[in-house]
Amino acid sequence: MLKTIKLANKNFLSSLDISSEEFLQILEIAKNFKNKDLNLKLKDKVLGLIFDKSSTRTRVSFQVAMSRLGGTTVDLNPNTSQIGRGEPIRDTARVLSRYCDVIAIRTFKQSDLEEYAKWSSKPVINALTDLEHPCQTLADFMTIKEEFIDFKNVVLTFIGDGNNVANSLILCGALLGVEVRIACPKGYEPNDLVINKAQKIYKNKNLLKITNDPIAAVQGANVLYTDVWSSMGEENQKKEKDKDFLGFTIDQSLVKNADKDAIILHCLPAYRAKEISDEVIESEKSRIFEQAENRMHAQQALLSCLLS
Ligand code: CP
Ligand code: NVA
Repeated sequence: MLKTIKLANKNFLSSLDISSEEFLQILEIAKNFKNKDLNLKLKDKVLGLIFDKSSTRTRVSFQVAMSRLGGTTVDLNPNTSQIGRGEPIRDTARVLSRYCDVIAIRTFKQSDLEEYAKWSSKPVINALTDLEHPCQTLADFMTIKEEFIDFKNVVLTFIGDGNNVANSLILCGALLGVEVRIACPKGYEPNDLVINKAQKIYKNKNLLKITNDPIAAVQGANVLYTDVWSSMGEENQKKEKDKDFLGFTIDQSLVKNADKDAIILHCLPAYRAKEISDEVIESEKSRIFEQAENRMHAQQALLSCLLS
């Protein structure tokens, strides 16, 4: 039985900070944690959590994962720490990494996360930035693997904003050789650098498709995935985006175009009747709550690898 592994990179700032082999090994470790086949204890380790944006799943799944490993967490928020007062990242990072063994950060700019990692002597984990959400994607592919056993011939269609979640799905899809189709309104395409990096990894196999046509994108797909249209920090664009994304709702009529055994994923939180219908979230095809549960198992695996 696989125990745990040491990752080549110290940090997990991007989905590309791990290799495809490491990715699959983390999923295997996560499965062992989930099945209670692995009872690894990392006594006395401390995870620092810095959340500049709200969170339910990421925060709690990290807290519980750490507690299951026999460690503990310190939850910092900008209003009750000196971070909100504007203490430089390089100072906060140097201080916190003397107290904590690993730090998970949810913030806006990827460059701020990278600045934390530069000054921290301990591993830094991306708990979501405007660019990526790599911890989410670990759980997403764990959920897909539970359903389809391996990733061969899996077609993953993401309908929505080409934002953090879509970017990480693209990068992981490339790592794992999974066909990824992104359907978004014009002007909401994923990050160009992310697309270029993914294309290089796919070695021009034409497995990444970006389209503005959601119906074409779901034809025969095995996994339909969506995320909110207006992300955290974009609250003032909500009215405009609600208009721009009309026709991009995952509802029963769109699902009918997918493979008959297709599953539905959503990173949550969801706006029902916007990016996804209530009926689809509650349908038998939905694996959304298994996916949310897998956040905890996947992060327990990730922590065990970064801390061993
Ligand atoms: N999916 C996700 O990251 O959820 P939270 O914002 O609740 O952490
Ligand atoms: N794209 C969303 C994901 C939330 C988990 C956001 O950034 O708000």
